[in-house]
Amino acid sequence: MMKGAKPNVVEAIGGTPIVKLNHIANEIESEIYVKLEYMNPGGSTKDRIGAYMLDQAVKEGTLKPGGTIIEGTSGNTGVGLAMWAAVHGYKCIFVLADKQSKEKIDNLRAFGAKVVVCPTNVEPEDPRSYYSVSKRLAETIPNSFYVNQYDNLHNRMTHYTWTAPEIFEQTQGDFDVFMAGVGTGGTISGCGKFFKEKMPNVKIVGVDCEGSIVAHYAKTGEYCEAKSYVLEGVGEDFIPENYDFDNIDDWVVVGDKESFLMTRRLLKYEGIYAGGSAGAAIVGAIRYAKTLKEPKKILILLHDSGNRYASKIYNDDWMSDNGYLDSSFNVQISEVLEDLNKKGDITSILDKATIGEAINIMDSKGISQLPVLNSNGEIVGLCSEKNLVKPVLMGEFQKDDNVSLAYTNNYKIVDRNELLENVANALLKKDVALVTDNGKLVDILTEIDVLQYMSSKGGI
Ligand SMILES: Cc1ncc(COP(=O)(O)O)c(C=O)c1O
Repeated sequence: MMKGAKPNVVEAIGGTPIVKLNHIANEIESEIYVKLEYMNPGGSTKDRIGAYMLDQAVKEGTLKPGGTIIEGTSGNTGVGLAMWAAVHGYKCIFVLADKQSKEKIDNLRAFGAKVVVCPTNVEPEDPRSYYSVSKRLAETIPNSFYVNQYDNLHNRMTHYTWTAPEIFEQTQGDFDVFMAGVGTGGTISGCGKFFKEKMPNVKIVGVDCEGSIVAHYAKTGEYCEAKSYVLEGVGEDFIPENYDFDNIDDWVVVGDKESFLMTRRLLKYEGIYAGGSAGAAIVGAIRYAKTLKEPKKILILLHDSGNRYASKIYNDDWMSDNGYLDSSFNVQISEVLEDLNKKGDITSILDKATIGEAINIMDSKGISQLPVLNSNGEIVGLCSEKNLVKPVLMGEFQKDDNVSLAYTNNYKIVDRNELLENVANALLKKDVALVTDNGKLVDILTEIDVLQYMSSKGGI
């Protein structure tokens, strides 16, 4: 065995750094520190619970050689389990809800695991839910072990015996508040119990998401109706056994959009490439800090890496399609038009016109896009220079052909009362925004119009 090497990748789990945030939480006096659990070999803190729960299962004889590991997982735990299984030679089947990112699913398949995808929006008791499917598989496959990170108490024990002591050793207990996004409850409950035993004045604060029932249940002892949300890893629609509410002092509830935007800020301003639950926890920490009478040292555990969200949180199209991209220029489009001195003297053409007529108009007016209206003044298409060049060159279009042959759908219709943000989002994908007033075309906005407006307002 080479000096300095670990015997296998499972032994490389843990020992993740704690880092101070220097920019994104400047609005509060408290200091925020983050433990980068994405630096575990599988990219999340769930490497720890994967290894620990399976080690315990072997010790207890519930997982036997040649057995199949089954789990209903949102992905990160799957990677932790699959990594352990690869090192120790076991098979894995994972059951996922279909809202999980494609990266997570592909990643598990790359480990050689079988992945079953189930619908998200069904009750846990529904036979199609990922809880029910995983249980059923475990009952029917011989020599299988259903891990069940929700109710398997070795989950929280992982954090009680490993993550929390590691943090305590790193910091010597030099923090006042410990916070983490909550899902199964393992992290907050395991760490919470350990810190409470060592540091009587520490506050343990859970970060839950809007739509989840956990914080509501913790505060009231009552169940409420779960609603859908997009954050992954945080929130539950039932209360897993791993929760130990006695060791959790307070709760903060955060939304999808603010969490995703914070996740992106974390990368942009601190260089930390983490997942959405990290953004959620930081939003929660800032909100919690604002309720404190004096500044404190707040330590947050960031669960996973941004890699698994490349096609979602870190993808501008996905963010904009879901209405998560924000602008500080929240003005109405009508104000922008006024500011740009656009008077609505827009050139358009009727749908019975010919391609030749369209080209003549574009040429004489020096414009490259021409909205096409029907006899009721409704927009039926957009004729654009870009769409004409090639077919005209190839002889596909004749002068007398109807203009409809040259339509492009590269435009988005927006109302003049909508926010500029919506136009900016539309222009990520489309060439122009056609501005309407009560359905009637009043103007066109292009990228250069938006830039001109932003520039005139000191936005760049
Ligand atoms: C990305 C992410 N964040 C947060 C959590 C919540 O951690 P815990 O399940 O320990 O409460 C999870 C757990 O699934 C997760 O995968």
